[in-house]
Amino acid sequence: MTSKRQVHLAAHLPGVNNTTVWSDERAESQIAFSSFEHFARNAERGCFDFLFLAEGLRLREQKGRIHDLDVVGRPNTLAILAALAGVTDHIGLVGTLQTTFNEPLELAKQLATLDHLSDGRAGWNVVTSSDAFHGANFRRGGFLDHADRYTRAAEFVELARELWDSWDPGAVVADASVGRFADRSRIRDVDHHGPQFDVAGTFPVPRSPQRHPVVVQAGDSDEGRDLAARHAEVVFSLHTEFDDARTFYTDVTDRLERVGRSKDELLVLPGATFTIGDTQADAKERSRAIRRAQVSPATAIAFLEQVWNRDLSSYDVDGPLPDVEPDVDADAITRGRVRHAKDPRALVRSWRDRAAAEHLTIRQLVIEVSTRGGFVGTPSSIAAEIDRYVQERASDGFVVVPHTNPYGLDDFVDRVVPLLQERGVYRSSYDEGATLRRTLGLPGHVLDRQRVTA
Ligand SMILES: Cc1cc2nc3c(=O)[nH]c(=O)nc-3n(C[C@H](O)[C@H](O)[C@H](O)COP(=O)(O)O)c2cc1C
Repeated sequence: MTSKRQVHLAAHLPGVNNTTVWSDERAESQIAFSSFEHFARNAERGCFDFLFLAEGLRLREQKGRIHDLDVVGRPNTLAILAALAGVTDHIGLVGTLQTTFNEPLELAKQLATLDHLSDGRAGWNVVTSSDAFHGANFRRGGFLDHADRYTRAAEFVELARELWDSWDPGAVVADASVGRFADRSRIRDVDHHGPQFDVAGTFPVPRSPQRHPVVVQAGDSDEGRDLAARHAEVVFSLHTEFDDARTFYTDVTDRLERVGRSKDELLVLPGATFTIGDTQADAKERSRAIRRAQVSPATAIAFLEQVWNRDLSSYDVDGPLPDVEPDVDADAITRGRVRHAKDPRALVRSWRDRAAAEHLTIRQLVIEVSTRGGFVGTPSSIAAEIDRYVQERASDGFVVVPHTNPYGLDDFVDRVVPLLQERGVYRSSYDEGATLRRTLGLPGHVLDRQRVTA
């Protein structure tokens, strides 16, 4: 009998954007430790593989102002994860940390420290960050082109690995006469000279329980996918719709084979929202209500302005789309937000056609075109769908993204997780003392826990 493929789940902390429903009566502070703690404990109750934090380098702006539903603070990822290590026991703690402005030795040190503090539960989502607006926050100034950012990212990860590997297991020795000391012959000096970095010296942190924190990747371009194939153990993707997810899965696993890695060395987890109802119709109704709460009148106008690149505040969101053309020549009015409207005029034409055909107002159109993939259904239909994706190799599981902070995941844990467990595709408890790599079922976990301490 062939055993069923197992589902892996990560919990994305809803935070600083307008997809978090701050008007929900259960929404609480996005920076109070109690919010993070509730979310983490709940994800751990649901046996999630890991908790996931995004990173924002700068508050995003539109027309020179911070959009009020968009951003309410960007606290530091590693500090939050370190605090969460103290109130959880099993769940992985994964932070998004960019490679464009950080320095490898410093970041490698912080991540190795998190791995020690959490006893082997740390993960690093490697991103390259998106534009010069973010870059302006950093003393280096200027910005790297897309391709250069990936060249730097690849060398960054390779160098971080070199640093983490520079302490052999058993490098810390207990000796009755002198106490505990570091065996110099088992610690290599790093002497790295590459196009991006020059680092020479001794890494200051002993080998951590996982040897390397688990490496996650979240860029979608060719270069991003190649980076994942070479270096990542988990990919966080935006390809959620079934056929698209399967195409992405095949693409990434093919790349993996081309660089000599096997398919089981990388997990692909698309992001997915969810709306649970008692019936299918109830779920659809709830989903509509959530989308309306997410796309407030101000958000609908802000969304259109990003494509039109002009002030549209005089338009009625319950009326037709603006009759003016997008301003493609002016400086961008939005800063810090990735939008992929390569040809705004063509996009606007297609939206006008759709609005006319389906009789959509501005707000209704924005709700339609800005809806990201997710599950809408009863607990059993959602569990069945998740299982189908995994058995049919469209994904290895999901990064689950709730609508509210911090209680948005509770329903999923209470109602969907038990059904996945009943199906025999999801754990009912963690393995005692497992590292994150082992929880994820990645083959590299055999190297974990080769401790340095005697
Ligand atoms: C699923 C996903 C999640 C991302 N999360 C972050 C993030 O939290 N912080 C960040 O600065 N960039 C994030 N990025 C953007 C990446 O940093 C990257 O700059 C961007 O995707 C451009 O690379 P690409 O062309 O390979 O996609 C994310 C990208 C994807 C696809």
